[in-house]
Amino acid sequence: MELRVAKTAGFCFGVARALDMVEACAAEPDKTYHTLGPIIHNKHVVDELAQRGISPVDAVDMVGQSENLIVRTHGVGKSVYDEMESRGIGVVDVTCPFVKKIHNIVEKHHREGYAIVIVGDKNHPEVRGINGWCENAAVILATEEEAKKAKFGEKPVCVVSQTTFVQNIFKKIVFFLKKTCNDIVIFDTICSATEERQKEAYELAKASDVMLVLGGRNSSNTQKLYSICKSVCDNTFLLEHIGELDSACNFDSKKVGITAGASTPAVIIKEAICKMENFESFESLVEESLKTLNT
Ligand code: F3S
Repeated sequence: MELRVAKTAGFCFGVARALDMVEACAAEPDKTYHTLGPIIHNKHVVDELAQRGISPVDAVDMVGQSENLIVRTHGVGKSVYDEMESRGIGVVDVTCPFVKKIHNIVEKHHREGYAIVIVGDKNHPEVRGINGWCENAAVILATEEEAKKAKFGEKPVCVVSQTTFVQNIFKKIVFFLKKTCNDIVIFDTICSATEERQKEAYELAKASDVMLVLGGRNSSNTQKLYSICKSVCDNTFLLEHIGELDSACNFDSKKVGITAGASTPAVIIKEAICKMENFESFESLVEESLKTLNT
């Protein structure tokens, strides 16, 4: 078996920075902190923080006045900051600086009269947060077909992207918008960490017989990695941890690639590498995985 692990697998700059800041909060036992939603899409990390007193809440009104709220990397809209301020809640803002930059672009161009286009998934918290900097007036596009139906009237158009969006689809949407809008400014705000991870995953999957994508099933960037890998490697599997590998997989080949989403802890990646390297063949790997599942 030939095992290759993507260099870009695992925590990105924004997630590593956020977790460092949350660690500093956890070291202050006399204060109460909550996160607005799970800090990252990883159950292991969220559970561990909850044990240390930092648990997620769904809304600002679930936090008491003397307590503190951690705004996660995805960021939130302006009205959420206003609500926290009016309720006298302490704020620890771990919004990724790359996401904050998008908020600033959108706020400025909205103020100047531009129609705002966000290329991304309308249900993703980052996109909802960005939309909250233009009074939720953005047109949100995830496909070329949606771009063909969009109408902007006479307004100039400002385009930004969800940081974790797929570069190819962004380019196709922008290509179409450029043809139909005369006055348009485009900000390619796809995070370079995401782009590099996606490119490397694509190349690795293309050269692999089996591709393992490690990460949370509810993590959008992990799901995108999975679909990119699946497009060039049929035997691609999305696993939250290596113990999930099951016997239905076709393991008759020997070139295996591993990549992981931006919120996958190093321990999950290391565990997968250790398990894979300890096995002579895929057959014994599957047997061992099943044993783990049954215990
Ligand atoms: Fe930030 Fe890019 Fe990570 S936007 S949270 S560094 S994927």
